Amino acid sequence: MADKPELPLDPAGKRGVLAYLAVAAVVLLLMMLFGLAMRLAQSEWLGLEAVYFYQVMTAHGIGMVAIAALGTAAILWYFLARRVRLSTGILYANLALFLVGVVLVLAGIFIGGFAGAWTFLYPLPAKPMGIWPQWAAASYLLGVLIVGVGFLLFYLDCARAILGRYGSLGRALGWPQLFGGDASEPPPPVVIASTVVTFINLLSILAGAVILTLSLINVYVPGFTVDALLAKNLIYFFGHVFINSTIYMGVIAVYEILPRASGRPWKVSRPFLAGWSATLLMVLAVYPHHLLMDFVNPTWMHVLGQVLSYTSSLPVIAVTAVGTLANVHRSGLRWNLASGLLFLSVLGWATGVVPAVIDATIVVNKVMHNTMWVPGHFHTYLLLGVVAMILGFMAWLDEAAARGDSALDRAAFWVFAVGGFGFTALFLLSGRDSVPRRWAVHLPEWLPYDRVAACFAAAVVLAMLVFALRFLIGLKRMAAA
Ligand code: HEM
Repeated sequence: MADKPELPLDPAGKRGVLAYLAVAAVVLLLMMLFGLAMRLAQSEWLGLEAVYFYQVMTAHGIGMVAIAALGTAAILWYFLARRVRLSTGILYANLALFLVGVVLVLAGIFIGGFAGAWTFLYPLPAKPMGIWPQWAAASYLLGVLIVGVGFLLFYLDCARAILGRYGSLGRALGWPQLFGGDASEPPPPVVIASTVVTFINLLSILAGAVILTLSLINVYVPGFTVDALLAKNLIYFFGHVFINSTIYMGVIAVYEILPRASGRPWKVSRPFLAGWSATLLMVLAVYPHHLLMDFVNPTWMHVLGQVLSYTSSLPVIAVTAVGTLANVHRSGLRWNLASGLLFLSVLGWATGVVPAVIDATIVVNKVMHNTMWVPGHFHTYLLLGVVAMILGFMAWLDEAAARGDSALDRAAFWVFAVGGFGFTALFLLSGRDSVPRRWAVHLPEWLPYDRVAACFAAAVVLAMLVFALRFLIGLKRMAAA
């Protein structure tokens, strides 16, 4: 049985996707400016008191995670809506809840002074030692919870629509073709990736909602306590799966757009199906690699965290990287901003996973975990992977509305790529030399790293300014196309 022909995208749905991306363009730029401010402060080129540094760090961390999710959710929705019947109302409801949640988070941080990092580690929100009032922690936690509720609705709608069309999780993942010898055409890549993300994120958001609610109660009723180890496990399960899923949503742009540019359909092979199904299970159990220093966590979880770190991300990256090369090699593809950014995103993702896997090795982790090595690896696959996927999608929509690349766009691409690799390499080099992460004030010996990194970061911000303006200026044309 061949998959049904693509459904037309309704205009309200398209406007919703553009609204998600417009918010993403503005917030990405703003959060990058916050990141640059931190690098400048660590360089001693900007006076930022420690208490404000940690507010900016909290806003940057949670803001970037949330906006990566919103931007890549736009990619998922745009392509999945052509395969299954998604609800446009839920698309808008998620955006509305997102904006309400963001206002509460920002008020908690910048009016109330909450600075407990995006990981809101229990019991820190309720024990600020006089730095922020109760309401600030509550506003932050409630804001994150509301953003989570929006995404919960979003994924419930995806689950409803996918099950309505394919009947079961196994069928949507192509299991009959993988295991049952079924010779019919498997579901398209967008359905497979969306099914994996929907399943893992429903679980991650539920875990997040539980610990956010418990922490909220703890803020106002200190006698109500939670087991700290359980709380940490819930937070890292939620945070790890949620941020990982942004890559799995973003990569849909690679599967959908590169084939249109190269003229070669993306081949859903058996290794492709096996890779995604393997990731579905492993990504849920790999998060203990964040807790390798928590000696009270069960040993079997540490072992699981290390072993799965080697295997969890590899299947999908391998099938995507090989698939990307096979798709573009000698295809006559015309390189432009969209295809360039999407190709870069696969490179950035694959590169970033290498230092991540190194850090997930217990003997290395004991030395490296609280160093700049960690922001080094995750900035590589988030900035050069996920953000490049979102920017590539934006550029493609712009091109589809008959806008060609200018010399400025091409320059911005190279500035982004070189600046991004330089900026992340400096994090890794600092980590190799044991510069700690999350320190507002740096020793004089570390300043050269910080200063070179700040210059690369400024270059990335400039490139982002060009991409954001280009997208916002073209919005009306894109909506009409
Ligand atoms: C121009 C781009 C960016 C700059 C200059 C920047 C800068 C920074 C800096 C200086 C830190 C603190 C490092 C430390 O001392 O521990 C940081 C942390 C972080 N960044 Fe970025 N960043 C950028 C882009 C991104 C992107 C694209 C994402 C995700 C999509 C992201 C997510 C995070 C997260 C989650 C943290 C951890 C915050 C914490 O430790 O609580 N950043 N960033």
